[in-house]
Amino acid sequence: MLSSPVRTAAFAAEAVKPSRVVGTLMDDARAGLLHAPRELPPKYFYDAHGSSLFEAICLTAEYYPTRAERALIAHHAHELIGVARPLSIIEFGSGVAGKIGPLFKACEAHALPASYYPFDVCEAVLVATGELLHEQFPGLVVRPLLGDFTAGLANLPRIQGRKLLMFLGGTLGNFDQPAAIDLLAEMREVMRPGDFLLLGADRIKDPQILHAAYNDAAGLTAQFNLNLLSVLNAGLGADFVAANFAHRAFYNAAAQRIEMHLESRVAQRVTLPALGESVSFAAGETIRTEISRKFSTASLSALLAAAGLRVDRHVSGVDEAFSLVLARRDDA
Ligand code: AVJ
Repeated sequence: MLSSPVRTAAFAAEAVKPSRVVGTLMDDARAGLLHAPRELPPKYFYDAHGSSLFEAICLTAEYYPTRAERALIAHHAHELIGVARPLSIIEFGSGVAGKIGPLFKACEAHALPASYYPFDVCEAVLVATGELLHEQFPGLVVRPLLGDFTAGLANLPRIQGRKLLMFLGGTLGNFDQPAAIDLLAEMREVMRPGDFLLLGADRIKDPQILHAAYNDAAGLTAQFNLNLLSVLNAGLGADFVAANFAHRAFYNAAAQRIEMHLESRVAQRVTLPALGESVSFAAGETIRTEISRKFSTASLSALLAAAGLRVDRHVSGVDEAFSLVLARRDDA
């Protein structure tokens, strides 16, 4: 007997309602595109095409963070799970969960019957995650949560027992300091004494290595950046022409972050029918599409401290390319 009805039941996602109003693409475009300095939140990169481009970026020789984080998880899973001893693992922005298998293996080794709650905006991603993990760990209970973790966490289901929250991939780097503190503080609100947060963060390093990671030779990061224009065209009825913009990514050393921009190659006017507006770009003018912050051990600890969290374990490889931090509430 084939198990498709069971699967459907097992991987049906529970919707998590926003607990606060978040801007729509129209709101964000109105706030970010009409006046210089122009900028858009990086979350709009991830339509179906953008998500597959991101996965392709992760396989390039230049983009080291995914490999570095995977290696750290594989190497330290047993130790980290031994400290956190979770009964539930909740992952924010789970993606396809391709690197967390060792954590569930470690749960088995520590005789912890953990349940996994992937929390993602994309239902297709949640289903794929459930299926992948179910194949590898038939006993694992997967409870997908469908929602936007930037829209507040107050409506997360109440989960009994010790929890491990996970925010991996360096996604925290997309948030400037005030937004990162707010997001971590919201995660702290979900934590009870004894719960932990496992955070992945990219490290400050040789600017040439950073530069290459966001300017891969195959041009996938450029495609990923330019794909944002298709998202704007589809969502706003806009008439951006990708050939009229260039991918620019550079390390801003003073701000300790990569910045990605789309630079207008020519003087041009673009119409945004959904907003009833048009935008004139001078040649060389840019839209900032992403910041990706890089951390030192000190700046990472300081950020966590500002959110009321204390570092319990900090692991990074010999090259210190990437960090995994296990943190708990500062009052626990
Ligand atoms: C998924 C946000 C961690 O900032 O490195 C990859 C996204 N942007 N290449 C990052 C990204 C360009 C990535 N994060």
